[in-house]
Amino acid sequence: MRILSGLQPSGRLHIGNYFGMMEAALKLQHEGDAYYFIADYHSLNTVQDGKLLRDHVRNLAIDFLACGLDPAKSVFFRQSDLPEHAELSWILSTVTPMGLLERCHSYKDKVAHGIKPSHGLFAYPVLMAADILIYDSDVVPVGRDQKQHVEVTRDIAIKMNETFGEGLFKLPMPRINEQTAVVPGLDGQKMSKSYDNTIQLFEELPALKKKIMGIKTDSTPVESPKSIEGSSILALYKLVASQADYDTMVADHEKGGVGYGDFKKRLLQAMTEHFAPFRERRAEIIADPKYVDRVLAEGAEKARAVARKTLARVRDAVGLG
Ligand code: TYM
Repeated sequence: MRILSGLQPSGRLHIGNYFGMMEAALKLQHEGDAYYFIADYHSLNTVQDGKLLRDHVRNLAIDFLACGLDPAKSVFFRQSDLPEHAELSWILSTVTPMGLLERCHSYKDKVAHGIKPSHGLFAYPVLMAADILIYDSDVVPVGRDQKQHVEVTRDIAIKMNETFGEGLFKLPMPRINEQTAVVPGLDGQKMSKSYDNTIQLFEELPALKKKIMGIKTDSTPVESPKSIEGSSILALYKLVASQADYDTMVADHEKGGVGYGDFKKRLLQAMTEHFAPFRERRAEIIADPKYVDRVLAEGAEKARAVARKTLARVRDAVGLG
């Protein structure tokens, strides 16, 4: 089984990325042939500052390794080290119906949140299809917001197979963990950089404290029962606390007598404890500045061997070169 997924280096990773995608991806690296990459071609749509993009790429690599990505098990690379993705994207774009891309929610959503509507942003799902298809991927672990893009990938693969020969591409499947498919942000909406409601994976403690203690709550008095529905404190606590601690917090909501300040403190503590081992590992990775470069260079080499083979097969089928 070939597993593949990517993350955009458009800022620091947040816990929506972790629970929506990385946690599953880390488990899957022990179950198959995993390819994970940093989607820097994609991020050019929103990060148009060379130095900043490089910093984001480096931080993302460090953070993913700190969370447990094992370069001996997974091929970990930077997308732009593989221009083969961009070439395949062009080939796929020639069979991609406009209507397929016009239906994509993510494009409309991003434009509605102030990202400028460029051709790159519109054509983004085609590049994502190339990322997936060039490795003959079977399974793509993602959060719910990427599901439609994997479906578009399947539609493009079907179109290519109909046009240039059955069997040219495998049809990949999204793998979504329903429990964590949409991790809420501090304000209860989906956690997302564009909504400015994120908790970063490696948030410094004072900033983390400020964010958690600042979660907006209703004015139910301390002694009264509190609503469980739609509480972002509870939803976030569920991700980082043990089942027993989570059940206690639910019971305390139902009973009344505990204030929101107390719930927030419990959330802060559980969040800090949950990610503590990752922080330690992160410090070790940073202490060896060459390590990340080495991992990405080796990853690119392994990825290239597969990507070149697929691209040669596709060029041959469509009549290029
Ligand atoms: P990106 O960088 O926006 O997000 C990376 C992963 O995190 C998931 N995610 C979430 N999951 C649950 N709740 C949330 N609040 C949340 N926020 C983000 C995303 O669903 C994603 O799985 N287009 C992709 C990157 C990409 C890619 C690919 C992914 C490029 N090529 C090929 C898979 C296969 C993106 O922008 O993800």
